[in-house]
Amino acid sequence: MRGSLTGELLARCIVETGTSSFYSALRDATDEPVLKAICHRIAGDEFRHYKWFYDYMKRYIAREGVTMLRRALVAVSRIRETDDDELAFAYHAANDPLDAPYDHQRCNVAYASRAYGFYRPVHTERAVSMVLKVIGIDPTGWFGGKAKAFAWKKMRSRAEALRQAA
Ligand SMILES: [Fe+2]
Repeated sequence: MRGSLTGELLARCIVETGTSSFYSALRDATDEPVLKAICHRIAGDEFRHYKWFYDYMKRYIAREGVTMLRRALVAVSRIRETDDDELAFAYHAANDPLDAPYDHQRCNVAYASRAYGFYRPVHTERAVSMVLKVIGIDPTGWFGGKAKAFAWKKMRSRAEALRQAA
């Protein structure tokens, strides 16, 4: 689907970035000790998944020679798929009454308005660093700083828009 094995592994890294940042955000947002401990462990697992896919991706970059631009395009396309049916339908299955019809738009807003509200700057910054790393861009450089600031601003405005829509 992503044009190369490098692309497939990169897309996996993006998914693991999303899951590890989400569970970190949830962990840091709750004072409930058991939920906090569970989220902490899951976030660690998700980060290890990322690292595993990242390590294998590096091997395939060497073999396949996938350019930085191509990797950036794969990363952006996978990030945009966050709004597809996967999370929205999971929300529907877990929260809607059995006879309620699935409505993508409604469920997507309901899920995202809850999930994104837990994020703080540290979570988006870490997520941006993980994404830049798989593309091959230094997260600590000038571009990394700009990307982190942009991502936090975007996350805040998206969370606010979703909260109002919900
Ligand atoms: Fe995972």
